[in-house]
Amino acid sequence: MSAAVTVSAPAKINLCLGVGTARPDGFHPLATVYQAVGLYDQVTVSEVAGPAGQVTVSVEAQARLDVRGVPTDATNIAARAVRLLAGHHRLERSVHVHIDKGIPVAGGMAGGSADAAGALLACDRLWGLRTPAEELAALAAELGSDVPFALVGGTALGSGRGEVVTPLMTRGQHWWVVLESPLGLSTPAVYREFDALHAGAEVADPEIPDRLVGALLACDVPELGASLSNDLQRAAFRLRPELEAALEDGLAASAHGAVLSGSGPSCLFLCESRTHAAQVADALAARGRGPISLAPGPVPGAHVVAKEV
Ligand code: C5P
Repeated sequence: MSAAVTVSAPAKINLCLGVGTARPDGFHPLATVYQAVGLYDQVTVSEVAGPAGQVTVSVEAQARLDVRGVPTDATNIAARAVRLLAGHHRLERSVHVHIDKGIPVAGGMAGGSADAAGALLACDRLWGLRTPAEELAALAAELGSDVPFALVGGTALGSGRGEVVTPLMTRGQHWWVVLESPLGLSTPAVYREFDALHAGAEVADPEIPDRLVGALLACDVPELGASLSNDLQRAAFRLRPELEAALEDGLAASAHGAVLSGSGPSCLFLCESRTHAAQVADALAARGRGPISLAPGPVPGAHVVAKEV
């Protein structure tokens, strides 16, 4: 059997997502509270015989997910992560990356970022590198704005373009109902819509609401639900008007709060417990809405689940 390492990497949501005016580099300054939730992609990196530096990719998925849009060539973000880490350590190894997806594709839950973080950590362990956390975080930031958070997980403040991550100590766990969408949304398209909506207007610098942080620290789920916010929501509604009614359905079904996940189209409903989440999920399903998953949060970031050496 060839040497292989498997990493499980969680989806992320944003409890608040404050967005400012685009910077000269095109990215938008963010003030966000990230939370890792219990939907996972598993990334397995195996040593294979092949030309030095060759990285191949295969993808499978849980039945509810459509993964036809995920590239299986060198452009896959996990393959880019492998090459970036190898280049950083001046290595030329041949590996196969297998991705087993449980996070919706183009769903606003950072599934690609989870794969990149998973590939970074899996290769680091496979090659016995023990790259210092700050170096791994810097490589992660090169791959995408959400990748550093996927390594850390839990609940964390995010700033810069999202890549500056500061862990936030919170107590307790809550439950999310995740209403996925059969059709993904392009993150750049939602940001372009945000720009169009705010063209010519002064957008205030984004800030994290005190009320949200207070609710998190107090572990007050109803207050947390009332504090959820997302500056991209209006832009996403312009592209997908049906999402607004989906959020309202979750509130009518007794969720403590409803918010779009990142740039969408996944919708999140905050619940007290797993039992409460199951009730909300049943009510949404009865209205014909789906696919639906239940996920606890916060959960840890990317971590090794299997190692064969
Ligand atoms: O960093 P990442 O590759 O995930 O970003 C994907 C796209 O989302 C960027 O190309 C950009 O269009 C948009 N984006 C942005 N501002 C951010 C993060 C992402 O405009 N802070």
